[in-house]
Amino acid sequence: MSQHNQNPRVAVAGSLNMDLVISMERMPEAGETISGSALHTLPGGKGANQAAGCARMGADTAMIGRVGKDAFGGQLLEQMRRMGVNDAGIGEHRSAPTGIASIYHTKEDNCIVIVAGANGECDADWIESNRAAIEEAQVLLVQLEIPLPAVQRALEIARAAGIVTVLNPAPARELPQELLELADYITPNETEFAALSGVSAETEAELSDAMAAWQAKVGSRVIVTRGSAGSSFLGEDGGLLTASAPKVEVVDTTGAGDTLNAALCVKLGELIQKQQAGGEAGSVGDAELLDALRFAVQAASLAVTRFGAQDGLPSREEVEAALAASAG
Ligand code: RIB
Repeated sequence: MSQHNQNPRVAVAGSLNMDLVISMERMPEAGETISGSALHTLPGGKGANQAAGCARMGADTAMIGRVGKDAFGGQLLEQMRRMGVNDAGIGEHRSAPTGIASIYHTKEDNCIVIVAGANGECDADWIESNRAAIEEAQVLLVQLEIPLPAVQRALEIARAAGIVTVLNPAPARELPQELLELADYITPNETEFAALSGVSAETEAELSDAMAAWQAKVGSRVIVTRGSAGSSFLGEDGGLLTASAPKVEVVDTTGAGDTLNAALCVKLGELIQKQQAGGEAGSVGDAELLDALRFAVQAASLAVTRFGAQDGLPSREEVEAALAASAG
């Protein structure tokens, strides 16, 4: 990653999957057989989607991960290059197959089963051997489709180097306190937040109480992504601040959260870069975070109008044009 140009620098440590997507009118019941309309083989994986999103929206992006030495692995590496992601930290494992995600897709929703394959070999040692990619970044973005010790190591490297860390706790799983404490920002969706905090909030008041309690416990800034209700965080005065989502015609929700996280990291990287250029290393204020989140929510709202986790990624210009149109 070049440290000399104007783009923010983001490192993503995480999964690469080939998505095997079957489109259907409705989800099958357990034990039922239904007909699907098509099978699509598309690049995916939360890590790769997020890396592709960061690059597409303007960051110099380095990805750390692993694929198999097989046809899917080659295609995923090729896709990373096509999307402009630095793939030096993506290794081909000699025996494990490339990870896959089997996705049932309807317009409104999806159901995903992943087989980790080589993602399971993206361990703490692999992260360690690629630590330079993290140390050269301004923001590190991680999710939970690689082993937890690897996530932990990536966060530790970033924290030691003073790099801002964003943990997207997806798919939901129990996380140790020492891992949570290494994240500056944690970005669960509502289901993931309920699993992490143990509170299923029914109202905004309940949500903000639960966020305040959990935030105090883990010490990170929590941003809850709420689908068509937008995304929320707690402001400095404790009030819930929400970037609302525009109404859109949904085609495919796969990867919407990945787009949001990528866009958020690009914006955070830009803020940090600005602060560093001005000689200050300050924190991100409410107004700046809300602005970054509006950009991120708009990016995700565009992504759901298109099919495919990476094919649906909007460009920076598209997000800005949509934001400008909604403001005018
Ligand atoms: O977040 C969407 C992604 O989750 C898909 O691309 C699939 O690979 C699963 O990892």
